Amino acid sequence: MVIEAIALTNAAAFFGKDLACNKEFMSAAMNFIEQTLITAEVVRVLPSAIAPFIGNLLAKKLGAGKILYDSLIPIAEERLEEKARKRLGQTVPEHHDCVQWVMECSPRSKPWSADRIVHELMALWFGSVHITSTTACFALHHLCIHSEYIEPLRNEIESTGWANFDKSGGKAFPLLDSFMKESARVNPVESVSSRRMALKPFELSDGSRIEPGEWICTAPRGMMADARYYADPQKFQGFRFVDPNLLDKKVSGISGDGVSQETPSKFTDITDWQLWGTGRSACPGRFYATAVMKTLLALFITKYDMQLEDPKAARYFAWRTFVYPFASTKVVLRPRSAV
Ligand code: HEM
Repeated sequence: MVIEAIALTNAAAFFGKDLACNKEFMSAAMNFIEQTLITAEVVRVLPSAIAPFIGNLLAKKLGAGKILYDSLIPIAEERLEEKARKRLGQTVPEHHDCVQWVMECSPRSKPWSADRIVHELMALWFGSVHITSTTACFALHHLCIHSEYIEPLRNEIESTGWANFDKSGGKAFPLLDSFMKESARVNPVESVSSRRMALKPFELSDGSRIEPGEWICTAPRGMMADARYYADPQKFQGFRFVDPNLLDKKVSGISGDGVSQETPSKFTDITDWQLWGTGRSACPGRFYATAVMKTLLALFITKYDMQLEDPKAARYFAWRTFVYPFASTKVVLRPRSAV
């Protein structure tokens, strides 16, 4: 359900409402995510001489990518045609979606073809739905496990109102922001971030040298559980990132939430918060992802009472550097009005 909700939201932002309402397209777009994961896992263990051939064969056999590609190609071609007509001074429709954004990001000297634009879009689609839905799913589990946070979160959402949330561009709801950040701290989906290959010799502040061609990355899962950076790191403290002055005003005595970071911070912050990567390459989708996750979680919080069907059951598994939620974990939702 979380994947579907995130996929629908992303589809509207990426491709516009028409495709988001197209059932065959949406089903392929969602299957594409799992099929990409399976294909990537197979390809990575194959010798490089045969990997592209087998990868293409598998992708063709699984099929979702082709439906996505065939649906997006005419749109990309139409947009390129509009761009050419605009250059001739003709009036063309204005578009505010990701197809347009990707097209405008292409290098001016050598603009991308429709084929390249569609492949960029498909890669972006895979990454954005996959990581946003798994991160939101963990936050949903945490709302069930730490139900003492529900009431202050409901108060915040209902007293702020959706209109003000919209007006803030997704920046409102600071308590929910902190709760999501704590959830991602305790259960980051990716244990590794900021993967970089050295192009010239590079020295770290502790004297370690990275030679050209060598890879280096950061370890957010370890950093986020390190007592040097997070007081009482094993403890879930939903409001640890909130400005203490604001917390006093908004919440009185939420049980167990005695720990705050020295400096308040936001979910979208970067630097030592490695969830989004580093510097110029840090995730440009983080503001959008945060606004989408807040919207989704705030809807769950205000519309339902929630609990895990079996709070003791394992909720996630590790696969290489990832930790994924089990699809089988059931969350019981009771509409609030029916309580
Ligand atoms: C919870 C959700 C998300 C997480 C945790 C996440 C995390 C990341 C990370 C760690 C990177 C690599 C940064 C680096 O190497 O320094 C990245 C890159 C990227 N992300 Fe996200 N991301 C999320 C959602 C999204 C969404 C929704 C979009 C698009 C709508 C998006 C678009 C991108 C793009 C385009 C890049 C490549 C940036 C570049 O190489 O310059 N991400 N993301």
